[in-house]
Amino acid sequence: GHVVVLAGGMSFEREVSLRSGRRVTAALRALDIPVVLYDTDASLLDRLTNDPPDVVFPVLHGATGEDGSVRGVLELLGLPYVGARPDACRIAWDKPAAKTVVRRAGLCTPDSIALPKEVFHDLGAGAVLDRVIGVLGLPLFVKPTRGGSALGTSVVRRAQDLPAAMVGCFAYGDAALIERHVEGTEVAVSVIELADGPHALPAVEIVAPDSRYDYTARYDAGDTEFVTPARLSPAAAARATEAAVTAHRALGLRDLSRTDLIVDADGEVHFLEVNVAPGMTETSLLPRAVKAAGLDLGTVCHDLLLRRFP
Ligand code: DAL
Ligand code: MG
Repeated sequence: GHVVVLAGGMSFEREVSLRSGRRVTAALRALDIPVVLYDTDASLLDRLTNDPPDVVFPVLHGATGEDGSVRGVLELLGLPYVGARPDACRIAWDKPAAKTVVRRAGLCTPDSIALPKEVFHDLGAGAVLDRVIGVLGLPLFVKPTRGGSALGTSVVRRAQDLPAAMVGCFAYGDAALIERHVEGTEVAVSVIELADGPHALPAVEIVAPDSRYDYTARYDAGDTEFVTPARLSPAAAARATEAAVTAHRALGLRDLSRTDLIVDADGEVHFLEVNVAPGMTETSLLPRAVKAAGLDLGTVCHDLLLRRFP
């Protein structure tokens, strides 16, 4: 038997996913595990049917990957795979839905307004600007309701910059999430779930150039400084860890996830989003957290595979 790592696909995060896939593949091969890396296209069904793997490790970012649709194909084929099920992915991938779920579970998340592109165009930029800023104030953070790798996102500090931020956002999605922008320390907490339950890895603090952890800052090595464990008070660190585990559980996720948070000056933790297929590239956060915990990425991936194919 063999393992298939699924990467690539057709989302905006295709290139990132291929990098993640190569990293996971190399880490598993280093342990002598037979693994094949598939770029995910229309031939997937045939390939998986003709030479069925024992188990699949999906490392697909963005639409079709993180929305659970490709995992639905794996369900259809009866193939075990690492990670959350399609229904849980669909909710986690939709940022407004995920915020509603975690808020019900007791977490703080910035107040926000979700706005479909058509509504923005019907109302007109001026009216949207007045209403949104009237309710949420400034600064704001604009992002696609479904998206990743900071594509289409921007901070809005001046009212006149909101229309351009919306247009930039709609290039990557058909709806915008406009959030109150919380200033503070940006941290990511990865969760690995083994037989004894979900475990949070050390929080990774992100110190991006000009405080903008954008696509370039994410994937150009050396652009962003990472501090692990994050420089938080013990109480704030504990709250961040707890928030990631709460989000993982409340959203019904499985095996692995990464929750992105802001810790404000008072040590209060604010949920931004959760990733069901966290980046695995050389510059990504989960591999960094694994290393900081004194673990090996290949071993962690292998442990997750063994959960699904003992
Ligand atoms: N969406 C990217 C891959 C991440 O969250 O790491
Ligand atoms: Mg994300």
